[in-house]
Amino acid sequence: MTRLTLRRPDDWHLHLRDGAMLRAVLPDTARHFARAIIMPNLVPPVVTVADAMAYRARIMDALPDGMTFEPLMTLYLTETTDPADVAAGAADGAITAVKLYPAGATTNSASGVRDIAKVMPVLEKMAELGLPLCLHGEVTDPAVDIFDREAVFIDRVLNPLREALPDLPITLEHVTTADGVDWVSGAPGRTAGSITTHHLMITRNDILVGGIKPHYYCLPVAKRATHRDALRAAATSGNPRFFLGTDSAPHVDPLKECACGCAGCYTAPVTMACLAHLFEEEGALDRLEAFASLNGPAHYRLPPNEATITLEKSDEPVTYAAKLGSGDGPVTVFDPGHPLHWRAA
Ligand code: NCD
Ligand code: ZN
Repeated sequence: MTRLTLRRPDDWHLHLRDGAMLRAVLPDTARHFARAIIMPNLVPPVVTVADAMAYRARIMDALPDGMTFEPLMTLYLTETTDPADVAAGAADGAITAVKLYPAGATTNSASGVRDIAKVMPVLEKMAELGLPLCLHGEVTDPAVDIFDREAVFIDRVLNPLREALPDLPITLEHVTTADGVDWVSGAPGRTAGSITTHHLMITRNDILVGGIKPHYYCLPVAKRATHRDALRAAATSGNPRFFLGTDSAPHVDPLKECACGCAGCYTAPVTMACLAHLFEEEGALDRLEAFASLNGPAHYRLPPNEATITLEKSDEPVTYAAKLGSGDGPVTVFDPGHPLHWRAA
């Protein structure tokens, strides 16, 4: 048996939802992760600090007795977000970041940003305070091919933004392309990129070859293998600008397996097993702690966790449940397409 002990990991991009789904999925994250950046794309979205505090209370209420977990709250940036509310939330630690969704880019993003000029006062305040901006980095221009939307976002939005606000801490979330990796690696200032579990494991072939696989459909959509390999290289490199943000995004099966299925992969239960598998395959197990437990806190200027987690590898494959039951219906757990041998001790 191989064992690996690391500081307890954090998840720098997580969808917990609300109500029955929140209660069902929260233990899968809290079992392995000490903290997570909580995405604000509820219906209606988490737009004010008061909304975030109320949502945080619902999360803590849903946490089973005996588990510990710290939700790091975010605000959903809209064109009417009040810079003073953001500043107050940052000052008392109620929020850790603000999330920018281009309007229409993904699940529940309709209230997002259409015109970045309209949110400049908020972004300027955040730059002044050192409050990180988390970005869904895809343009929504219908003329741009879905596989090019991240690369075009870099040209049209990220480069001008980085130049206009050099002090703004930026996380390019769920990087899916070599273009994104290059941008994060080279941009000046406090710049980082999060990488999901599934984008390290799958390519667009997994979605489309041999029949359409809705449980591999997420946004940004998985790209070709060269991009997946650039993500693997970045994640296992030890470069402190890259860290884990699972983007674990549960949807009940009927909303995935239908004519117009929702985007999102539910990866929380298997993420640490998948990562250990991948880092071992890449000969980089000694860099898993940097990716999962150290680089994220450094970017967000939080201390790394003192507690640890021990992962152990067995010769026999470990069985993970294929579905999670929730009060709203079943949720299919991400299948990496090969047996997993790692589990948390
Ligand atoms: C996310 C969701 O379901 O909320 N879906 C996804 O495919 N990642 C939204 C998001 O992060 O884009
Ligand atoms: Zn997400």
